[in-house]
Amino acid sequence: MDGSVGFVPTMGALHRGHLSLIRRSVEENDHTVVSVFVNPAQFLPGEDLEAYPRREEADAKICEIAGVDVLFMPEISSMYGSDEVKLKAPEYLGYILEGNRRPGHFDGVVRVVMKLFGLVGPKRAYFGKKDAQQLVILQKMVNDLFLPVEIVPVDTVREEDGLALSSRNVYLTPEERRRALSISRSLKSASRLIMAGEYDCAKIAEHMLGIMRDIDVEYVRIVDRSFRPLERVEIQNSIILVAARVGKTRLIDNLWI
Ligand code: PAJ
Repeated sequence: MDGSVGFVPTMGALHRGHLSLIRRSVEENDHTVVSVFVNPAQFLPGEDLEAYPRREEADAKICEIAGVDVLFMPEISSMYGSDEVKLKAPEYLGYILEGNRRPGHFDGVVRVVMKLFGLVGPKRAYFGKKDAQQLVILQKMVNDLFLPVEIVPVDTVREEDGLALSSRNVYLTPEERRRALSISRSLKSASRLIMAGEYDCAKIAEHMLGIMRDIDVEYVRIVDRSFRPLERVEIQNSIILVAARVGKTRLIDNLWI
């Protein structure tokens, strides 16, 4: 393909969050490639690989309407072989927080994204800030391996009531969905605290836990943009991260300060 190629890797079940990445790519590039591939390498044993929502026809329609030039939906057997050269996520960044809860998950993410970059050869690739740790790891991959790809971060798209869009939201019952709203409420409230001059991370986290008392919070962490824990919020260099279980569904959300 002549001209610039923008690339949006996804695992399908496309929603308005994915669409905002796709729109951005269509706007900024001559051609846009979207991949839909539920990557087995990034699911741990016992995770929702089998149950992960699949909506290939709807995804194809959405891509067509959005002006996507190429929709790439590979089979597992064409993506992975035996005894491969394997890329690994960084020791620190790949194994804390999400990587601690899901050890090996980010190894699977870097493996597949590297393969996809090799196949697509994009000038720009679009990733959501919703998956903050993934975004920072992939940015690091591109820097560390001197890849000629620009990683473009895209803001999190939310429902009107604040819930961050996620393919996994379909697992929530109406009652769980209502309780899940405390995640985005706690982040909003944290941003108000910070604007009022409270920079103490422990106090902010405690305040957030109070708001999320009806759900099973796995962690609330305030880190810098390299994911080092902070004691005090640094404006323009902080991310507040939340992971929580609501019923059987695990949700993550964050706020970039
Ligand atoms: P998936 O969860 O399908 O997400 C694809 C892209 O959409 C990611 O960059 C993700 O951060 C972004 N995204 C998801 N929800 C969003 C929201 N509410 N607002 C904005 N962007 C959002 O992330 C993956 O797939 C996979 O790990 C992948 C990168 C494709 C590798 O397999």
